[in-house]
Amino acid sequence: MAVPLLDLKAQHLTIRESVVNAMMKVVEDQSFILGEPVERLERDVAKLSQTRHAIGCANGTDAILLALRALNIGKGDEVLTTPFTFFATAGAVHNVGARPVFADIDPDTFNLSADSIASSIKPSTKAVIAVDLFGQMAPIETIMDAAGDLPVIEDAAQSIGARRKIADKWVMAGEAATIGTFSFFPSKNLGGYGDGGMIVTQSDDLATRLRRLRVHGGMKTYYHEEVGYNSRLDALQAAVLSAKLPMLSLWSAARRKHAAYYNAAFADVNDVRTPTIDPANESIYNQYTLRVAKRDELQAHLKEKGIGSAVYYPLSLHLQPCFEYLGYKRGAFPESERATREVISLPVYPELEQSQMDEVIEAVRGFYGR
Ligand SMILES: Cc1ncc(COP(=O)(O)O)c(C=O)c1O
Repeated sequence: MAVPLLDLKAQHLTIRESVVNAMMKVVEDQSFILGEPVERLERDVAKLSQTRHAIGCANGTDAILLALRALNIGKGDEVLTTPFTFFATAGAVHNVGARPVFADIDPDTFNLSADSIASSIKPSTKAVIAVDLFGQMAPIETIMDAAGDLPVIEDAAQSIGARRKIADKWVMAGEAATIGTFSFFPSKNLGGYGDGGMIVTQSDDLATRLRRLRVHGGMKTYYHEEVGYNSRLDALQAAVLSAKLPMLSLWSAARRKHAAYYNAAFADVNDVRTPTIDPANESIYNQYTLRVAKRDELQAHLKEKGIGSAVYYPLSLHLQPCFEYLGYKRGAFPESERATREVISLPVYPELEQSQMDEVIEAVRGFYGR
């Protein structure tokens, strides 16, 4: 039996009725732009994230772009971030006219560390974007400390509902940063039936500005205080996401259980390094990512056995052709570059059955002669 990397149809079958009903309500109301479905999801995501505000927007990329704009980041500014992330993190920096500057990652968690940030901040640095990669939070409290007065955006596109124990208190992804951003891309733990995004913040002023920026920079129709964007969360998507939200914590718990099952099964395979979760973190395992020797050969072997896998990410952002103008050379961020050679993500979606995981395990172990 083939095991896909992700099986969205399997999830849809478990929630079909509530999602279809929610979508049909929007269709019957013929009320497609903002309104009650979006406001409801904003309230629920703010509650989950323990923030004062949540602002829906068109996607996770725009969430970062709007956050940068709300913080007045633009031409001539430098924004410090990780080179080991999805392209959107740095793409948004470029698209507001600022310059992405990178700092290397912690090889255990793949996230930025406070040390790497502290040693990379310069007078020209105007903001930091920490990414909560693969479902676990970056050490946000130490990153905020290292950033000092600089604003910190927490790109939690892959980590909605993840949490971290700080001084004996659970802090949610997006809660502690100046601004937190989420994506509802279908492959995320809370995925829409299309694109969607959300921004969270504790600041009333930033929330007001973000709400304005997402509707062309003006709250009164046809009057514009600034030039913004058309970046609203679609009401149909909001309805789908509200129907799915009650399941999020169960789905993320199922992913953690699957991860523990894999971890035990790979413990004696020397060539395989299972994911390291910071002891302060509870991961939502958007990805279950191994570090392995002979990664490309393993991936070809898995493909042959009908097992889905993916490489997130094969090329560090500082080496992307579009960022050649930044002047980075190979070797600039050795940990990020090493990660791009060693990582491979395996199926970890909640609906995965034990027999399917056993098949994945057998194929990986078999490749290493175990
Ligand atoms: C880390 C990270 N940042 C940003 C994004 C952008 O989100 P979207 O695809 O919703 O624009 C994604 C997701 O795809 C992501 O994984």
